[in-house]
Amino acid sequence: MEQIIKEALIDIVGQTNFTDQLIDMISYSYDGSDHNHRPEAAVWPVTTEQISEIMILANKHCFPVIPRGAGTGLAGAAIAAKGGLVLDLCRMNTILDIRIADRLVVVQPGVVYADLEKALAPHGFFFPPDPASGKVCTLGGNVATNAGGLRAAKYGVTKDYVMRLELVLPDGRTMRTGSQCMKSASGYDLARLFVGSEGTLGVITEITLKINPKPLAFRTGVGSFGSLKDAGQAVTDIMHSGIIPCVLELMDENTIRVLRERANADLPEAAALILVETDGYTEEEASFQMSKVMDKFRKNNATHIKKAASASEVEELWRIRKATGSTAAQLRTNHATEDVAVPMSRVPDLLTGIAAIVKDCDLPFVIFGHAGDGNLHPKIMYNGSDPDQQRRFDEAVGEIFKLTCSLGGTLTGEHGVGLAKASYMSLEHDAVALDLMRSFKKLLDPNNILNPGKMDLEA
Ligand code: LAC
Ligand code: ZN
Repeated sequence: MEQIIKEALIDIVGQTNFTDQLIDMISYSYDGSDHNHRPEAAVWPVTTEQISEIMILANKHCFPVIPRGAGTGLAGAAIAAKGGLVLDLCRMNTILDIRIADRLVVVQPGVVYADLEKALAPHGFFFPPDPASGKVCTLGGNVATNAGGLRAAKYGVTKDYVMRLELVLPDGRTMRTGSQCMKSASGYDLARLFVGSEGTLGVITEITLKINPKPLAFRTGVGSFGSLKDAGQAVTDIMHSGIIPCVLELMDENTIRVLRERANADLPEAAALILVETDGYTEEEASFQMSKVMDKFRKNNATHIKKAASASEVEELWRIRKATGSTAAQLRTNHATEDVAVPMSRVPDLLTGIAAIVKDCDLPFVIFGHAGDGNLHPKIMYNGSDPDQQRRFDEAVGEIFKLTCSLGGTLTGEHGVGLAKASYMSLEHDAVALDLMRSFKKLLDPNNILNPGKMDLEA
């Protein structure tokens, strides 16, 4: 990046909000995935106007701009694939408004998920989509990737809560779209277009989110199973039993082993384990739902059933669950966490199909994830410097995507496409739909400034 551009950026954001130091560039070259590429500079804008000026500058000099949250993404979506400028939104981290009477909050994109949770708790409200990275991930990133998380089976994903967005478009224009009303049927739903667009169409500068009253009673239970098939059937049966648990998570035997060995987890050895939380506004409601879950555990030959007896036991279970991805990643130098999803009735087929594929590739793997909404995380560890391991890894991932799409599923339930799944887009989307996505990109960003190289938008 030429010095003249760097000086213009400093003029816009100020010296202390600009960096081209090597240590920062190395930090910004990674996210939570295995993809990496070094940017040439980074800025910490603090106003929408600054972002607008940056986009105008970027169009004039044709350099890429990559919006970034906390960098916890698992698909390479925030990587500067073609170099350029990282636009780190972490200093725009104010909760602008909490309007309980209107059931909404207005936040800047750099607000950390957990900070919003904390701010809402005294009001008895919460923002349900709860990614495993909730302690650090930012809401701008959650919107940009349409993040899901552990509570999606009952409460849905980020897109179900986005009411209005303020955005800076690639050409520097600022736009508000959506509504702060609970209902609106007014015009195209442009806000939805930007949710999950991974920073390729606009920079999110303000978000209005719907919030929910927080349930008051919870029950947590664990069931162990002698086979993946039994566990998969238990998931299907629970979801047919007339209740919807707020969390329904599955772990395979490798996940259990890794957590026992490396995260001090007090879990029984088994072929599979299901972790369930039910919630309600009365104790009876939460208990009633848990009794239904326990019935289905028993019906499907659970070998071990346990209800969490104390708050600390519950907290420990969620600690272990949320640490699963990072704990398994320790097994080799490289890893990828897939997040394929299928219609609920196909979960048992997806589970057994994935298990067969990953066993064949003879690499360490774990399978875990949000079985209650059909979204699983096959995670394979490998040494990328060994061409044979790399080849086996690539083949297994390709097979998993093919299997998923053949079951009517999707490449990504919650992590996004980014770089990781770009080359598989045509497996899921028909040619006309892909063509329309590329047309939107060209219409809004004719110079391909914003987050280029992602989502197969350039073919
Ligand atoms: C999780 C991440 C990998 O559910 O999505 O832990
Ligand atoms: Zn997940």
